[in-house]
Amino acid sequence: MSRTSLDNLPAADRSDVASALRDALLQAEFTADGLLELLGAPAYAALARSETVPALRATRGEGPLEALVRLFLLQQPVPRERLADVLPLPACVESGWLRESGPEGEAGPEGAAGSELAATVDVRPYGGPDGEDWFIVSDLGCAVGGAGGIGSGDEGVVLGVGGASTTLAGITVRTPVASALDLGTGSGIQALHATRHATRVTATDLNARALHITALTLALSGVPAAELAEGSLYAPVGEATYDLIVSNPPFVISPGARLTYRDGGMGGDDLCRTLVQQAGDRLNEGGYAQFLANWQHVDGEEWQERLRSWVPRGCDAWVVQREVQDITQYAELWLRDAGDHRTDPAAYAARYDAWLDEFEERGVRAVGFGWITLRRSEAAAEAPSVVVEEWPHPVEQPLGETVRAHFARVDWLREHDDAALLEASFTLAGEVVQEQVGLPGAEDPEHVVLRQGRGMRRATKVDTVGAGFAGVCDGTLSAGRILDAIAQLMGEEPVVLRDRTPAQIRTLVEQGFLEPVPGGPAA
Ligand SMILES: C[S@@+](CC[C@H](N)C(=O)[O-])C[C@H]1O[C@@H](n2cnc3c(N)ncnc32)[C@H](O)[C@@H]1O
Repeated sequence: MSRTSLDNLPAADRSDVASALRDALLQAEFTADGLLELLGAPAYAALARSETVPALRATRGEGPLEALVRLFLLQQPVPRERLADVLPLPACVESGWLRESGPEGEAGPEGAAGSELAATVDVRPYGGPDGEDWFIVSDLGCAVGGAGGIGSGDEGVVLGVGGASTTLAGITVRTPVASALDLGTGSGIQALHATRHATRVTATDLNARALHITALTLALSGVPAAELAEGSLYAPVGEATYDLIVSNPPFVISPGARLTYRDGGMGGDDLCRTLVQQAGDRLNEGGYAQFLANWQHVDGEEWQERLRSWVPRGCDAWVVQREVQDITQYAELWLRDAGDHRTDPAAYAARYDAWLDEFEERGVRAVGFGWITLRRSEAAAEAPSVVVEEWPHPVEQPLGETVRAHFARVDWLREHDDAALLEASFTLAGEVVQEQVGLPGAEDPEHVVLRQGRGMRRATKVDTVGAGFAGVCDGTLSAGRILDAIAQLMGEEPVVLRDRTPAQIRTLVEQGFLEPVPGGPAA
């Protein structure tokens, strides 16, 4: 059966049933915390990797929570009598959340004692950032494939929450806004997060099935409904503009569109490029557009230049490349994702070959994966700040506030020339430490490194002046006065340090080691 249609989905217009089902799930503690307690951390984590065996073992008991985990997460038929006091059964069956299923998988006599019920969709508890009890609805089969891949070859299958989904949710700027657009909404997870801080949320998808599932996710999570619009890229929203645009798009660079949730079908990285290039006109002043993306590393081209060329006019940009894979690793990753490694070896080899052919034709050596944030501003039209960097090291999510602060510092730096910078004062960001790197026993370190304990957890090399400067930044003295004092200590000409150091201070501000004090020095 192809799941491009709305077949076998619960009714999206029965908010009464979604609400009753939500109450019943919460009553049975079918929540992220409840699951963790029942399953234990290893089985809970295994389930997030789509591995079901540990959870099956942990749900051999007869309680209501065990029954719900088996029904909605492990996709096992459950005897009707075990659910009778747990769920509003007639309404769930009538509106399509559950279906009759005989002991051998055949339909049993409706309502008969001894019959079994099965879920029509995967329902996964998901803890919101403020402890909200949310639920993510997705297609059956896609979250129980384990090492076998997604377990569904249906073009229109709608996946649940993956690592990419939570990464985007974590980096999204969460300031209160009037309007947010989630483009390529899938299960609706980004739209769900947006309901917390956006008055109006619009969710779009090429796949009508995804829009239907998004409506279910929002209703079951007890949050306001979103405006839903079907179509490709920005087509369904016309000329509308937003304060926030987020998209975890089908970014996989693949030979042909096979799975809608991942294959953009536009050739190479064109879908991601188009998404980014066309975002500028859809953003309100001060608005953010945040994307996950893949990009090609092409022979004879700097990948940073490729990304710079995507940034639309009128926007500042911050691009972080988190990972690079060579073309063989990349092809294998996505062949496994689709479960192709479990199919006929000749078919697997042919698909692998096609992938490498595609890359060869385009001169692609490797593929980068990362985050792209745009921020629309009037100042960017004159002098855009486009930061394209590689940062493959661990970071501390959520990073939404770090992203917002990056652009605030961009504005500050743009407004302050070197003379103004020397008049300003700074504080050292929280949890920054100094590391000295050099040979054991050496009198002086070869390098001094400042390292952040929070956010991006950056590390940056500084010279003695930079380290000394950062160390005394407590907001009381202006940068110029601190440099004069350092010059005196080092026996240097103050004017030389005032001339030389602003570039280093700018880097420390840009990277978030130093924070400008609003209103200038206290002393
Ligand atoms: C990787 S999934 C992301 C789902 C969800 N937003 C998340 O963060 O988990 C990509 C989604 O984009 C949708 N999609 C595919 N091609 C599209 C297009 N051309 N325009 C809009 N959405 C598209 C897919 O149907 C799928 O739901």
